[in-house]
Amino acid sequence: MTDRKPLIAGNWKLHNTVAESQALAGAIAAHVGDGSACEVVLGPVATSLAAVKEALGGSAVGLAAQNTHWEDSGAWTGELSPALLLDVGCGYCIIGHSERRQFFGETDAGVRKKLAALLVHKIVPILCVGESLEQREAGKTLEVVLGQVEAATEGLDAVALAPLVVAYEPIWAIGTGRTAKAEDAQEVHRAIREHLAELKGKSWADSVRVLYGGSVKPNNAEELLSQPDVDGALVGGASLTADNFIPIIDAGIGRAES
Ligand code: PGA
Repeated sequence: MTDRKPLIAGNWKLHNTVAESQALAGAIAAHVGDGSACEVVLGPVATSLAAVKEALGGSAVGLAAQNTHWEDSGAWTGELSPALLLDVGCGYCIIGHSERRQFFGETDAGVRKKLAALLVHKIVPILCVGESLEQREAGKTLEVVLGQVEAATEGLDAVALAPLVVAYEPIWAIGTGRTAKAEDAQEVHRAIREHLAELKGKSWADSVRVLYGGSVKPNNAEELLSQPDVDGALVGGASLTADNFIPIIDAGIGRAES
């Protein structure tokens, strides 16, 4: 269908002790093994990053942080930096999640700085964008989502942005059990890709993976992943058990093979 390798990422949010994280990571690593047609990434809480890295062993499963600061070090109490994330073995980092924008005052300008800092360290940024229910009902979905993508990538060219992953997560679908209809997700994903093509060039835009997030579950993953521009999923609640997450990984493998 496409050359883009599907990517299934688990966002564990504020869940799991070190021991729970290790057990879950071990189960996912055993399923994925040392290679798969689908890239798989786990995003534990910061206190479990090192333990999850160890539990993943030689498997192909990647490690993601849920946030970063843009500076490498300094007087930034409570923060984590790209340099330290790299040190603990993170190959990926989620940025701009709506929970951070909504509850921690994260702005487009801050997200842009984080994105640039991650790229310097060759950590794959998973850039989250998405509209609220109010914005959707006001017909502003594309304006909001494309605006967030544009602001985060401003001043960076296609070469610098090569590894970028975008996650479209409608806020009204996160943790609510309400998923965007597969065709509605596809429409936004296609618009994101077209906008990236206009901004930075078509061949790069064609290579960018655009994930869908918001109540992805074993029973809807396959349909969402059958859309031409839905290259994977960013999964919250359903990434917290192997029984739920493994069928979603398998849907990613199914997409790769279709
Ligand atoms: P959810 O969360 O799958 O629980 O809706 C997705 C996310 O916030 O990344």
